[in-house]
Amino acid sequence: MKQFAVIGDPIEHSLSPRIHTLFAAQAGIDLEYRKLRVHATELQRDIETFFTNGGTGLNITVPHKQTVFKLCKSLTPRAQLAGAVNTLYLEDGKLAGDNTDGVGLVRDISNNLRVTCRNSKLLIIGAGGASRGILEPLLALSPGSIDIANRTHSKAVELVSLFQHLGKIRALSFSELSIEYDVVVNASSSSLQDDIPAIPEHCLTKSELAYDLMYASTATPFMAFAAQAGAQQQSDGLGMLVEQAAEAFSIWHGYKPETQSVIASLRSLH
Ligand code: ATR
Repeated sequence: MKQFAVIGDPIEHSLSPRIHTLFAAQAGIDLEYRKLRVHATELQRDIETFFTNGGTGLNITVPHKQTVFKLCKSLTPRAQLAGAVNTLYLEDGKLAGDNTDGVGLVRDISNNLRVTCRNSKLLIIGAGGASRGILEPLLALSPGSIDIANRTHSKAVELVSLFQHLGKIRALSFSELSIEYDVVVNASSSSLQDDIPAIPEHCLTKSELAYDLMYASTATPFMAFAAQAGAQQQSDGLGMLVEQAAEAFSIWHGYKPETQSVIASLRSLH
C-alpha cells in the first residue's frame, strides 16, 4: 500500500489524514496516511527515512515549511515564490517540493465562497510565511490592488519588495489603513493567540468577504470582529485546508478529488 504522512510539531490535531482518506475513497485508491510529530533537529533524517522506506508523499506543516524548502533538490516556481514547501515527493530519486497553500486559498475563495477578486481591493494582514505563500496566486487573480499591513511594518515592506513585479501591491501600517476593502484576509497568527489584529473597523464595513486562514469549530476572533464591523461573509480556513490537500492529492495520484462534500463532512464533525 502507498504510504503518505504529514509532518509537523505539534501534529495531534491535524485533519490531513482524514481529508486524504476521504479523497482516497472517492478515487478508489488504497493508501495509508499518518501524522508524524517531528522535531526540527530530526527533520532531514526523518524525511530521508520516510522515502528510503518506500514512502510516496509527505505534507509539511508548521513549523517546518521554510526549513524543508531548503532541503529540496528541486522546487516548483510557486514553491520558490512562497519560500516554503508543504508537499514533497521524489523526482528521479531526489527530493522535490511544491507549495499548494496559495492555490488552496484561491480555490476556496473563488469556487467555494464564490467571491471574485478581479479588480477588487484586497487587504492582507500579516507578513509571515503564510502571507508569502498566498501572495502570488492572489495577484494572479488580477485584483485592483493588494495592501499588506503588518504589526511590524518593515516585514510588510520586505514582502512587497519580493512581489511588486507581479502586480499592484503596497505595504501600509495599521494606522495608514484608510479605505474600505472588498476582501480582507487575516494571514497573521492573531487568532491562535485569541487576539484580533489592530486594524480599523472601517476596513471591513463594506467587505464582501473576511477570511481567516486559521480554522476553528466556532468563529475565530477575527471573524467575529469582521461580522460586527459589517462584512457580508466571514470564513475560516477549513476550505483552504481541504483545497490545498486536494492539490497535493492530485500531484501524487493524478486524480482531482471533489472537495465540497469533504468540507461539509469535516464541518459536521466540529
Ligand atoms: P507564519 O509563518 O505562519 O505566517 P509567522 O512568520 O510567525 O507565522 O508570522 C506570523 C504573522 O502574524 C506575523 O506577521 C506577525 O506579526 P509580526 O511580524 O509583527 O510579529 C503576525 N501576528 C502574530 N500575532 C499577531 C497579533 N496578535 N496581531 C497582529 N499580528 C500578529
